Amino acid sequence: MKKYLVTGGAGFIGSNYVRNLLEKEQDVSITNLDKLTYAGNLDNLKDLEGNSRHKFIKGDIGDESLVDELVREADIVINFAAESHVDRSIGSPDDFITTDIFGTFVLLEASRKHGVEKFIQISTDEVYGSTEGASFVENDPLMPSSPYSASKAGADRLAYSYFVTYDVPVIITRCSNNYGPFQYPEKLIPLFVTNAMDDKQLPIYGDGLNVRDWIHVVDHNDAVDFLIEKGTLGEVYNIGGGNERTNLDITAIILEKLGKPESLKNYVEDRLGHDRRYSVNCSKINALGWQPKHEFTEGIRETIQWYEDNRWWWERIKSGEYLEYYKAQYEK
Ligand code: NAD
Ligand code: TYD
Repeated sequence: MKKYLVTGGAGFIGSNYVRNLLEKEQDVSITNLDKLTYAGNLDNLKDLEGNSRHKFIKGDIGDESLVDELVREADIVINFAAESHVDRSIGSPDDFITTDIFGTFVLLEASRKHGVEKFIQISTDEVYGSTEGASFVENDPLMPSSPYSASKAGADRLAYSYFVTYDVPVIITRCSNNYGPFQYPEKLIPLFVTNAMDDKQLPIYGDGLNVRDWIHVVDHNDAVDFLIEKGTLGEVYNIGGGNERTNLDITAIILEKLGKPESLKNYVEDRLGHDRRYSVNCSKINALGWQPKHEFTEGIRETIQWYEDNRWWWERIKSGEYLEYYKAQYEK
C-alpha cells in the first residue's frame, strides 16, 4: 500500500485529486492535510466519508510538529496547499507568504529529515509572468507579477534547491488555469456561471481580452500521476490544456449555455498588475507521452452543467463568508 500525504486536499484541485486517485488505484492510502481556510471545504469530500483509505486531518502545513509526524509516515508528498487567489493576494499578501513559501519550507524540511520517495510541488504557469509572444518553456526566467505568483515562484525554487542541495526527490509542475467541479466561486468560471444562473452581473476586468490556457482539473491531476511515474527528479514540467481563450470567449460560452443575455456583462476596473496572457509550451511532458484528454468545448459545458446540478454546493459558500467579500469588491 503506497502512502500519500496530500496537502490542500479539501480545495478545488486537491479534492478532485484525492477522489480520482482513490478511484484509479486500489493500492494507495491518502492522508489529507488541509487547514480548511475559506477555500477549503469538507463538502468537496462528502462522497469519501467512510472510505478507509482516506484520512482527513485539519491542520496547517506550517505546523512543524504535525508535518513532521505526517511526513514520517508518507511515501509520496504532494503539496497542493496554498493561498491561491490573485485578487486576495493584492488585497492582503501576508497569508500567501506564510503558507505558500514558509509552509512549503516546512514540508521540504520534514521530507529531507525522513526521506520520501517523491515530493511533488504543485507550482503554476503564473510564475513565468505574462507573454504576448512565444509560450514559456521550463527554463525561461521567472517574472511573477502578483504577490500570489511571486510566493509560488519562491516555493517552486525552494523545492528545487532542496533537490540540488539535499537530494530531496522533488518534481515541480507548472500548470495552466484549471476548470471543473468544486472550484471556489471567486475564480472566473464558477463566479460567472453561478452569477449568471442568478441573473447577477459578470464583472469583466478591463477589456476582457486577457488570455488564459484552460485545462480540465482531471487532466491536470492525471499529469501529476503521470509525472510521479515518468518524471525525472529535479525537473520542472509545464502542464497545459492547449485551450487559450480570452475572458470574453469564456463569458460568451457561459451565457450561451445558460441561455442568459449579454446585458449581464459588466466591464469593471482592471485588476492591478493584470497579466495579459499565460501560455506554456508543453513539449517536455508531451515527449514523455502525456496529453490532456478533455476536449474543451465539451469539458466546459459539462462543468457548467455541474454547477447547475449542484446549486447546494455553491449556495452554501456564496451565502456566507464569500458574500461579504464579494459585496466589498463589487457591490459598492
Ligand atoms: P484552492 O484555493 O481551491 O485550495 C487550496 C487548499 O489549500 C484549500 O483547501 C485550503 O484550505 C488549503 N490551505 C490553504 N492554506 C493552508 C495551509 N496553511 N495548510 C494547509 N492547507 C492549507 O486552490 P486550488 O485552485 O485547488 O489550487 C491548488 C494548488 O494548485 C495551489 O498550489 C495552486 O497554486 C496550484 N494551481 C492552481 C491552478 C488553478 O487554476 N486553480 C493552476 C495551477 C496551479
Ligand atoms: P482567475 O480565475 O482569478 O484566475 P487567474 O487570475 O489566476 O488566472 O481569473 C482568470 C481571468 O479572469 C483573469 O484574467 C482575471 C479575469 N477575471 C475577471 O475578469 N473577472 C472576475 O471576476 C475574475 C474573478 C477574474
